[in-house]
Formats: sequence, structure tokens, C-alpha cells
Amino acid sequence: MSRQARFLRLNAVVYGLGNHEAAWRMPESDPLATTSLAHWAGLARIAEEAGFDSLFLGDVLALLQGAERHLSDTMDPLVILSALAAVTSRIGLIGTLSTSFEPPFHIARRFASLDHITGGRAGWNIVTSSNRLEAGNFGLDGLPAHAGRYAMASDVLDATIALWDSWDADARVADKQAGLYFDPGKVHPVNHAGPFVRTAGPLNVPRGPQGRPLLVQAGSSEDGRTLAATYADVVFTAQLSLEDARAFYDDIKTRAAAAGRDPDEVLVMPGIMPVVGDTRAAAQARLDAIDGVIVREHALEQLSEYLQADARAFDLDQPLPDGVGDESRSQANKSRFSLIVTLARREGLTVRQLLQRVGGGRGHFLQAGTAVEIADTMQEWFENGAADGFSVMCPVLPTDLRAFSESVVPELSRRGLLGNGRAGSTLRQRLGLREIPTRPAGAEPAPAIAS
Ligand SMILES: Cc1cc2nc3c(=O)[nH]c(=O)nc-3n(C[C@H](O)[C@H](O)[C@H](O)COP(=O)(O)O)c2cc1C
Repeated sequence: MSRQARFLRLNAVVYGLGNHEAAWRMPESDPLATTSLAHWAGLARIAEEAGFDSLFLGDVLALLQGAERHLSDTMDPLVILSALAAVTSRIGLIGTLSTSFEPPFHIARRFASLDHITGGRAGWNIVTSSNRLEAGNFGLDGLPAHAGRYAMASDVLDATIALWDSWDADARVADKQAGLYFDPGKVHPVNHAGPFVRTAGPLNVPRGPQGRPLLVQAGSSEDGRTLAATYADVVFTAQLSLEDARAFYDDIKTRAAAAGRDPDEVLVMPGIMPVVGDTRAAAQARLDAIDGVIVREHALEQLSEYLQADARAFDLDQPLPDGVGDESRSQANKSRFSLIVTLARREGLTVRQLLQRVGGGRGHFLQAGTAVEIADTMQEWFENGAADGFSVMCPVLPTDLRAFSESVVPELSRRGLLGNGRAGSTLRQRLGLREIPTRPAGAEPAPAIAS
């Protein structure tokens, strides 16, 4: 990708009824909408028409702690994205699957299938899972330790990529005359035998239009960054300031170069929670209204989970107690742990103020302002080595996604920052990333396949 081709990418994070914890309690929200296709199709249409490059569905494999006070039920993202394939034609569709709980064959097959039915618009958000309740749902007493989960992720990725590469792009000759469906020299065995997973292959789905779906990763710890720099096309991250975001951006690009990759081929996309208003005061009033319906018990539960400590024991009007603050103790979401402790200490927040901040942006950068002000921030981060684009996490859906689409997106477009109208139909092309070679290097021909 040439420097001249650089443009700001936009990814719409469509989490339930909104990325703000209290979205479901807002007057305009229908709390039962998340199980209806109309809700997801409506969001996809807004994002596609606005010109977002992709839409992203997160996933957690458990009903989380305190779920009775918080909308956290989550349908299978691949099922939702498959349905959205039918009602969209341009936007990328990125879904989450866990390397700790899904075997490579399922992962490769489901994403290759999505890539086919979307004409090359599929993306996989690779997660290792960090909530202990997820382990229980798969018969485990607890999650493997953090380093072990990342080691397994790397093994699962190698196996999954090998499965995608098991079909050459031109393997299907479909020669009716000769009675030959595919060329056996172009479909390869996999025989992956790693420390955690084994798979024979080949995959039973032909190579998708993108060769392999877009690979997205969001770990920010040491191990997470190494995995991202080695495999990911796009890195999602939560960063609280331009300075922090620049340091993260530099680090990922440096690690990518050290891994022998072109740093321009690894896109860093921090999250931003935009609260847009006609004036800054109007935007702040909207944020206050949403913050005003945060359920305190749930916010405490969530803070306890992030900090791996019982936040209910903390004094609400005091700073975080001194004992909290050692990332190495956390085996869950290490980087979110550090980010929240840093936020509290740097801004001198009381626990009560911290609850508000975490309940709102969940530790992502949050800005309440006019469209021009929000576009200014995005432009500043983009032009100062902090972001190749943004994961836009609107607080209440669809209201704030519509507001962002109608005000901030046109403002960014007017400034010539977006990649509107780029040639190509796949998600990789749309993001300005290189194509995956059709014939994997060193692939061996498959043995005769038994009928
Ligand atoms: C924007 C963003 C989206 C994420 N989405 C998910 C998700 O859907 N499911 C999940 O289990 N973890 C998700 N995570 C968490 C990451 O996958 C990762 O576990 C987390 O950043 C902690 O990684 P670390 O321990 O390497 O710091 C997300 C993180 C970010 C920043």
C-alpha cells in the first residue's frame, strides 16, 4: 500500500443496543430488539449507506456476571452475519470466534463459507476469551493461564490458515465432460500437528474470494501484541489519549516489521465512543442522560471483573485503593486492567467517577462534542501516527449510529479523509490491503482422495 493511498478506515461496532452499558434503558431503545433480525439488518443498512468499511460483532461465550441487570445476551455472530450477507452488498462483516473454544476446522469452514456468500467481505476477530464463566460452559474448571491461551491461539491460527490454504484458487475445474470436479493436484493435505491442535485437512470448502478472510486481533498485552504483529491485518485497541495511542501504534508497526511484514499491512484501529450533538453542551447533556441510567450494581460487578478484585468493598468517594494496580496478577484481560488503573490514577478519579467512565466507554476513548470537534480528533489521531482508522462505538443503537453517519461521516468525507469509492469489492481491497497469493508457497499436492 503506497503512502499516498493512505485513508481513514471506519469500522462500526454494533454491540447489542449500544456500546454504552446503559443503552438498553434509554427511552428510544426496545430492550427486546437484539433477538430480531430487523434490528441487525437496520444497523447494517445504516452503516453500509454511510460508507463504513466494516461492521463488527463481538462475542462472549457466557451469560456474564450480573447479566440480570445488564443486556449482555449475545446471539452467535456468524449466524447474524450470515443473515446480514443477504441484506448488504458492500460493507465488510467481521465476527468473533474464540481460539480457546473453537477447533480450527470449524473456524476455517465457517469463515470460508461467510467469505463465499458475501463475495469476499468476511473478517475474523480472533479472541482467546478472558472470562472464567466461558470456561465453565466448555467443561473446564477455569481458563488456561494468559500465556497458555496465546500459545494456543498461535497454534489454532497456523492450523486454520493451513486449512484455508488447502485449496488453490483454481482447484475447481468442474469439467463435466471428463467428470472431474476439482484438480487433485490443487487441493492439499494439511496434517497440522501442533502442541494444542491437530487437523488432517483439506477443508471441505473451496478457497474463498479473499484467499483468507481479514484477520482482526485485539490483544494489547505483550503476548497479544506479538500475536497481532505476526498474524493480524487489523488491530483493534482501547486507547485513552493521543500519546498512548501513538505509542501503541508505533509498537505494533515496529513488531510487524520485526516479524518480516510491511507495517502498512497491519492497520491499527483504536475505539472511539462518539456522542454527537449540535453543540458541545447538547452532546454532554446526551451523555449525562445515558450515564444517568447506569445500574450501579452492574457497574461495580463489571469493575470487579476488570480489576479481578471486589469493587463493592471500595469507598465510592475515595481513589482506587493502593493494592490495586499490578497487571501481572491478572490472568483475564490484562491490558484493560492496566488501562483502567491508569485512567483512575492519571485523572485522580474517585471510584464513583471511575464507574461512570468505565460504564460508559468501557475504557475506550470517549468524546462528547459537535461533529466538527469529533472529526478534528479523528483527523488529529490519523495524521499524527496514532490510527489508520477507528472502531466507532456508538453509545445507543441505532440512534447514535444514525447521528454519527449523518454528521461526522460527511464531515470526514468533506475533508477528503475517507476511502470512498475505492476500486474492488472484497474487504481486503476496500481497506487497501494486499491480496493473499492464490497458491501458497511450498504447498504439496494432495494424495488421492478416497471416494
Ligand atoms: C475493540 C475490542 C473488541 C474486543 N472484542 C472482544 C470480543 O468480542 N470477545 C472477547 O472475548 N474479547 C474481546 N476483546 C478483548 C480482546 O480480545 C483481548 O482479550 C483483550 O484486549 C485483552 O487482551 P490482552 O490480555 O492481550 O491485553 C476486545 C478488545 C477490544 C479492544
